[in-house]
Amino acid sequence: MYKIAVIPGDGTGPEVTAEAVKVLKAAAEKFDFKVDLTEFDFGGERYKKTGETLPDSAIEELRKFDTILLGAIGHPDVAPGILEKGILLKARFALDQYINLRPVKLYPGVETPIKDKGPDEIDFVVIRENTGDLYTGTGGFSMKGTPHEVAVQSAVYNRFQVDRCLRYAFEYARKYGKKARGKGDKNTLALCGKTNVLTYIYDLWERAFHEMGKAEYPDIEREYYHVDATCMWMIKNPEWFDVIVTGNMFGDIITDLGAMVQGGMGIAAGGNINPEGVSMFEPIGGSAPKYTGKGVINPLAAICSVQMMLATLGEEEAADKIEQTVMYLTGNKLKSMQAGKMGYSTAEVGDLVVDKLTE
Ligand code: IPM
Ligand code: MN
Repeated sequence: MYKIAVIPGDGTGPEVTAEAVKVLKAAAEKFDFKVDLTEFDFGGERYKKTGETLPDSAIEELRKFDTILLGAIGHPDVAPGILEKGILLKARFALDQYINLRPVKLYPGVETPIKDKGPDEIDFVVIRENTGDLYTGTGGFSMKGTPHEVAVQSAVYNRFQVDRCLRYAFEYARKYGKKARGKGDKNTLALCGKTNVLTYIYDLWERAFHEMGKAEYPDIEREYYHVDATCMWMIKNPEWFDVIVTGNMFGDIITDLGAMVQGGMGIAAGGNINPEGVSMFEPIGGSAPKYTGKGVINPLAAICSVQMMLATLGEEEAADKIEQTVMYLTGNKLKSMQAGKMGYSTAEVGDLVVDKLTE
């Protein structure tokens, strides 16, 4: 029995979450586990009514769950930053979800903007550190409002944060890495950084990376790429990558690039993972206000986030089956991943997944 908190959120969040929940319930029935779902209304509407984003009491409440399913956060009437910081980032930080796991996998039938690359070439994951870096809010203004105004925002990492993220990444590469990416027979972990300019932050990352790799993971091949080069190779030679580990800010940026490479926000999912605590799974795309209530948004990203949730909970069989089902549908049924162009409504796509999963 899994106790699962569901936060549908804003915009199209509730629509895609409804389909994800449908699939979750069908998977539970088929694979013989139970789910106990509790819905929470955190998001833009609640903020507008009450001024509340994600209160501390909610964090305490969320700690009691096994995992969290999130739809989307973001409201056109709320100034940028309030909900993102107040809900999404607050949950990530308060629940210490220090890994942001974002697979970049091109499913069959899904269109990628990269010419001549297909599912064989586009299949890697980004492990984004999720608690440090420019996201810590370290900094401030001085002389604000004057012509000499200064703004400082510091990238902050400590060794502990870096080490725990690297350890997760090495373990991930050992367990799930695919051998022989054309570079010898070891699984590969690539560190993405900027050691030529960020000579403190990524010096720390690089030293920690090689120290840990040498001492504890001699079976894993280590590679290093600068972040700008990573962007270049993700487009030119995505087949070079298998498992990438990086800091929070670079991870944010390269995973949006990754989402496009794998066919867009309709299909990209991610997990905010605390391996020792409560994790939270979400489609990477936003609340897409212009599609709200039209039944045209693609729920597959939310459904894939359920797949990641179940894999993390240890329900590997159910997770694999959901992924196979999604791959069958992208390969054989859906015309496009884009909102309004799927050939089916949001709910119909959810039904297709359930039907195929349970047949
Ligand atoms: C993401 C988003 C968030 C981030 C924003 C909404 C705060 O872009 O999940 O990638 O920067 O992490
Ligand atoms: Mn982002």
